Amino acid sequence: MRLAALLLATALAVAHADAQPLTPPFDDTERAAILAHGPWPPARVNDPSNRVSGKPEAIALGRRLFFDTRLSRERNRSCATCHDPEKSFTDGRARSLGRALHDRNAIALANLSLNRWFGWAGASDSLWAHSIRPILDDKELALSPGELHKRVSTDRNTAARYAKVFGLQADADDPELVLVNVAKALAAFQETIVTGRTPFDEFRDALERNDRPAQARYPLAAQRGLRLFVGRGRCAACHLGPNFTSGEFEDVGIPFFAEKGRVDPGRHGGIAALRASPFNLLGRYNDDAGRSSALATQHVEPLHRNWGEFRVPSLRNVARTAPYMHNGSLPTLAAVVRHYSEVDEERLHGAPERRLLKPLRLSQQEKTDLIAFLRTLSGPVAAAN
Ligand code: HEC
Ligand code: HEC
Repeated sequence: MRLAALLLATALAVAHADAQPLTPPFDDTERAAILAHGPWPPARVNDPSNRVSGKPEAIALGRRLFFDTRLSRERNRSCATCHDPEKSFTDGRARSLGRALHDRNAIALANLSLNRWFGWAGASDSLWAHSIRPILDDKELALSPGELHKRVSTDRNTAARYAKVFGLQADADDPELVLVNVAKALAAFQETIVTGRTPFDEFRDALERNDRPAQARYPLAAQRGLRLFVGRGRCAACHLGPNFTSGEFEDVGIPFFAEKGRVDPGRHGGIAALRASPFNLLGRYNDDAGRSSALATQHVEPLHRNWGEFRVPSLRNVARTAPYMHNGSLPTLAAVVRHYSEVDEERLHGAPERRLLKPLRLSQQEKTDLIAFLRTLSGPVAAAN
């Protein structure tokens, strides 16, 4: 008992010796802005558009399919080829390499239940619809619905699991329905990929309960970086809330030429693809009878400003998901911070009065602090197994 008390007192003294208060301390505005990035983790919710969301048997089937190379035409690739659990569910490449070089960087799969739109351009409005795209895409898995139907129904184990989840025999379904159901099982698995608590979350909660010793465990450089993030840097105008994203689309001046003479239209093309898709939430495969999940899709219209806009990415686990941006053109966090420090206003094509971005002209110290902060957003990644 005495010993325990002594150890505790020593631990507190050590924490205290390290405790360097930020000067001046965070004011009320800063405090409110910081608290808005939590709490974490968020409560788990099922996707109303996917009737098998959250069902253990669907999750198990989806997990199997996610790693199954039979989902690719040549039986040599799976979802995990580009979304590798060992690499935080991304591929570590600037642009993905499937059957051909992709225009875009593979998005690290995590916390997907929080997304309103999927993909860098938001070409899908549900996780299951976005899981159909790579199966059919010529550059990714390139499987036709007919061939998928054949492979699912002729493999006894997969067919039995499929029948158990969807209550039908795979071979009795039509190929398009099998495709949608496979995607819904894939979505059920992907929803279980979540990132855990981070040093930032510990600090945020300590700030909320005014626990000074716990706050002092968060490095001072990260605290200064956080001050920049919610303050002068205006990062939190777009990277907001517990998942550090508005979930919407912006232009931050990353060149959008996919190759010489060909542009990636970003959100503009994403809206066109979304509206044309038979798998969007307005279509017959949405399991949400009330259709309230389809409201945002109903109202989205392509505007001129959407050219060259890309989805604001979450910053959770960002230190582990290099390289960065929709085309993987920035290799490190230092390069990203340099980009925001020197952003070229000529490149931004939105109206100047609604621009959030100005070159920040950060000092070397400020750049280091901002990176130190971004590094505290990493936590363990978990997925159903
Ligand atoms: C060849 C590499 C490759 C393969 C294989 C692949 N993906 Fe992707 N994935 C990508 C790329 C690149 C993006 C970004 C695409 C975009 O923005 O249009 C992406 C984006 C996604 C997203 C969007 C995540 C978000 O936050 O918006 C999901 C979900 C996804 N993939 C699931 C899958 C599933 C499920 C499979 C297997 C059926 C799969 N992917 C196979 C490269 C790949
Ligand atoms: C106007 C909205 C906006 C502001 C302000 C903003 N960002 Fe971003 N951020 C984005 C968008 C959009 C992207 C993706 C752009 C692209 O791929 O073309 C992005 C990408 C990033 C990435 C790369 C993440 C990845 O996974 O590829 C990081 C890191 C980042 N921002 C950090 C910051 C920091 C730090 C600040 C403040 C200095 C900041 N952002 C300010 C919208 C914004």
